Amino acid sequence: MRKWNDDPFTKKAKKENYEARSIYKLEEIDKREQLFKGVHRVLDLGAAPGSWTQYCLKKLAPEDKVVAVDLAPLGFIHPQVIFIQKPIEEIDLVSILGSEKMDLVLSDMAPKTTGVHDTDVARSFDLASLALEAACKFLKPGGSFVVKLFMGESFEEYRKLLRTHFEQIRILRPESTRKHSREVFFVAKGFRQPSK
Ligand SMILES: C[S@@+](CC[C@H](N)C(=O)[O-])C[C@H]1O[C@@H](n2cnc3c(N)ncnc32)[C@H](O)[C@@H]1O
Repeated sequence: MRKWNDDPFTKKAKKENYEARSIYKLEEIDKREQLFKGVHRVLDLGAAPGSWTQYCLKKLAPEDKVVAVDLAPLGFIHPQVIFIQKPIEEIDLVSILGSEKMDLVLSDMAPKTTGVHDTDVARSFDLASLALEAACKFLKPGGSFVVKLFMGESFEEYRKLLRTHFEQIRILRPESTRKHSREVFFVAKGFRQPSK
């Protein structure tokens, strides 16, 4: 039987000193979508153990910042990273970010799976909806949003929601996504500032 650490992306991440194999999903999305052009501020939701944050640091200039959020701890500390260890449901991001706006919002948040399809899909939809709420509050006009969602009945509803806020939406399933996984990523670009 194949063990989890036989996986080539897990081995590669270990060899390259990344916190998780998830890094290769963001790397592929970025190669295809050029996410970091002109980006100085990133909000990284579901950041732990921290491989997406590590990728952001690789792409940003030394004066740029990542605000990372997760209920689990990040595997490292870094002067360019503000880490908030709390569930997204309990964070008052306004009190932390004030009026500061982000160029890019990422959400790799995923629920602990139960194996019950409807429950897992519904929980993933709830997390993706909270991520969209944060993106709408904190993105600069024209900003980008990358979010993970488990495929299911709520997929079309979520796509429709995204369409109301962004100019362009793409759906990607990176090569490093595990074969049995139901996850897909939406890449939404061109955030439209809501009219007051
Ligand atoms: C796939 S992992 C993220 C991996 C991360 N992007 C990386 O590259 O290291 C999903 C993360 O979502 C987080 N998560 C799940 N529910 C959450 C919630 N309610 N609030 C914040 N984070 C949550 C989990 O703790 C977990 O660390």
